[in-house]
Amino acid sequence: MRVEKFMMRALGVLWVLLAVVCVGRSGHHIGHGVEARDNAADDSDNNLSLVTSANKDFAFRLYKKLSDHSDSQGKNIFFSPASISAALAALSVGARGETHQQLFSALGYSSSQLAQTDVDQAFRTLLANLTKGSAVFVDKLFKPKPEFLDVLKQSYSAEGFSVDFLNSTEAANTINQYVSDKTNGKINKLVESLDPNTVMYLLSYIYYKGEWEIPFVSLCTREDDFNVEENKKVRVQMMTMEEDVSTYIDQEIHTSVLHLPLRNLYSMLLLLPDNMTMLENNISPAHVNKWMKSMELRVWNIFVPKFSIKTSSKLNDVLKGMGITDVFGDQANLSGLAEEKNLLVSEVVHQATLDVNEAGVSAAAVTGIRYVNYSGIEGPIPELKFNRPFMVIITERNAENILFIGKIVNPII
Ligand SMILES: *[C@@H]1O[C@H](CO)[C@@H](O)[C@H](O)[C@H]1NC(C)=O
Ligand SMILES: *[C@@H]1O[C@H](CO)[C@@H](O)[C@H](O)[C@H]1NC(C)=O
Ligand SMILES: *[C@@H]1O[C@H](CO)[C@@H](O)[C@H](O)[C@H]1NC(C)=O
Ligand SMILES: *[C@@H]1O[C@H](CO)[C@@H](O)[C@H](O)[C@H]1NC(C)=O
Ligand SMILES: *[C@@H]1O[C@H](CO)[C@@H](O)[C@H](O)[C@H]1NC(C)=O
Ligand SMILES: *[C@@H]1O[C@H](CO)[C@@H](O)[C@H](O)[C@H]1NC(C)=O
Repeated sequence: MRVEKFMMRALGVLWVLLAVVCVGRSGHHIGHGVEARDNAADDSDNNLSLVTSANKDFAFRLYKKLSDHSDSQGKNIFFSPASISAALAALSVGARGETHQQLFSALGYSSSQLAQTDVDQAFRTLLANLTKGSAVFVDKLFKPKPEFLDVLKQSYSAEGFSVDFLNSTEAANTINQYVSDKTNGKINKLVESLDPNTVMYLLSYIYYKGEWEIPFVSLCTREDDFNVEENKKVRVQMMTMEEDVSTYIDQEIHTSVLHLPLRNLYSMLLLLPDNMTMLENNISPAHVNKWMKSMELRVWNIFVPKFSIKTSSKLNDVLKGMGITDVFGDQANLSGLAEEKNLLVSEVVHQATLDVNEAGVSAAAVTGIRYVNYSGIEGPIPELKFNRPFMVIITERNAENILFIGKIVNPII
């Protein structure tokens, strides 16, 4: 059967996702004037809200799968559910039959309520403010259906390129260069080597660089301990500020939640649990909504490590665990993608980076306009110190779209 496999023409759709995020390096403080709102647009478009709410749910199911996976024990997790949903939705454009069904149901889209075109339409409007998109690298001898490329271009901001996968060095260089350009050099080596059987390489990227509304002051950053495990400490650069910040202490799952607003209506939530397993077992979109709604603004002395992490994961197994199986094997029905038989997806890879740091110097210069109301405070100012494993979520302020989610176990890996 070896021979038969070998003779299959042009198999292997290699699928790559990547996500890059950079938080920090602020400009100016613009205050708390901007608040969560804007569900009106969603209400008028039921399909959009069906897709958004399925995406949120998918984000946490995927997180759970990734954190349960044996490979991830004791490791940082960081990924962009928005980018992965987009890439899988784009793949489903070319999928048919059971293959399509599996993708749809793993993504949480109900076929009775949503057609593929509704999903495409929703992705066209989602995350409109971010640098995001996708690219299709097609072998010069492979002919995808024009309708497929058309939808990818219209709804998933895809750019198309023709490459010669038989010259795998050249093809890999072309892809790496593209990715590097799109991510400001953050991810510069996505592809090591390419299987010469590859006929198409599809990647989706999201690049987010956010600035804190209230930047940290670099001069206050100090080296400090971070407790990776009970008996394992590492030294980190700990940023600090004493500020009016929004927090929520969730008694139910013993987690302190800190909300740090980013500019342009995005937010970073930092979740410090007493028991990480309990948080991971329970976290859901409903929790995020509850926290965002019930935050209290008051003065805290907060400590957040400065860090820069990079994660790279092959998602095949995790996606199979979520019911996406056919697309990876001989049963794959990608007949909407090309006439070509024997197409399958060989790999789904996701890379993401996260940089968290203070404000730049210019931000420090404008911090003077901040107003901290100390008058209502009795006793010492409480501390919230992220000096043991915590989770991060980067989301739209209205909690509708989750850009990134992760767990920082060790900030200096
Ligand atoms: C793929 O799915 C379509 C639509 O369900 C079906 O007509 C076609 O026979 C399937 N092709 C294969 C190879 O299973
Ligand atoms: C929403 O989806 C339904 C079912 O697929 C479709 O009939 C309807 O036209 C869609 N609505 C919009 C506004 O696209
Ligand atoms: C592969 O591409 C490189 C760069 O364009 C070129 O120099 C080389 O000759 C090519 N190799 C083959 C086998 O075509
Ligand atoms: C997107 O950008 C526009 C214009 O800057 C702004 O009004 C809107 O609130 C932004 N939306 C999000 C979700 O950031
Ligand atoms: C953490 O929570 C998990 C699940 O609720 C529980 O099994 C475990 O015993 C807890 N660990 C500690 C140290 O309390
Ligand atoms: C400052 O805090 C006190 C006590 O919480 C409150 O009564 C007062 O209105 C606050 N002042 C301003 C300007 O917010």
